[in-house]
Amino acid sequence: MRIKVLRQQTPFSEPYWETFAYDGPRDNSVAGVLDYLNYHDDIFTVEGRQTTRIGWECSCLQGVCGACAMVINGTPALACETFVRDLKGDCIEIRPLRKFPVIHDLVVDRSVIHENLTRTNLFIGAYSQSAPEEHAHQYTVAKCLKCGLCLEVCPNYGNGKTFYGAAFANDCYLVAARSREKRGEVRALYEEHFAGGCSKSLSCMEVCPAGIETIASMAKLNRK
Ligand code: FES
Repeated sequence: MRIKVLRQQTPFSEPYWETFAYDGPRDNSVAGVLDYLNYHDDIFTVEGRQTTRIGWECSCLQGVCGACAMVINGTPALACETFVRDLKGDCIEIRPLRKFPVIHDLVVDRSVIHENLTRTNLFIGAYSQSAPEEHAHQYTVAKCLKCGLCLEVCPNYGNGKTFYGAAFANDCYLVAARSREKRGEVRALYEEHFAGGCSKSLSCMEVCPAGIETIASMAKLNRK
């Protein structure tokens, strides 16, 4: 197989493609493929040119931390949860998420996701009981990895703009559901940073590795 990787040495240098030969197992994940390619001290492209190890991030390797989010064959996905056997063709194209600044190769800076939460002070205040029938959705929303995949596919999200995307909307729901005293505050933030900018493409739900139904968060927030 061929593995094509969009590389970039520094945040300010030009990106370029490199292609590698992969002869490892087909039941490997894309994370496993990257590990495989990086395994030896001397790394060569398919043309036989010596190059450097491919930069990428991971921590859990089981779809929990969100660090390995990247674009695989045009689809934003977690590398550790995407398997070679499920991809079509004999070439896998890997590039970093496009909505975030590249730090090195496939490593991007997603700190804006947390900065948006900090800037708006979107944290649960005094805890309030919520209806038991809402607990299942709250549990799912709380599993958000902050991986950025929902923002990558969102047609309305642009890094640094005032629309904060699905990750923020789901946090708005969680805070409003768990803290009655914060609801007025959350309402204003939700309107300013999500409701006015969402065009309901709902592509965020198609790529969310935690299976969060943002549309359900929106409906529940609107009801509140
Ligand atoms: S390494 Fe943690 S989600 Fe992939």
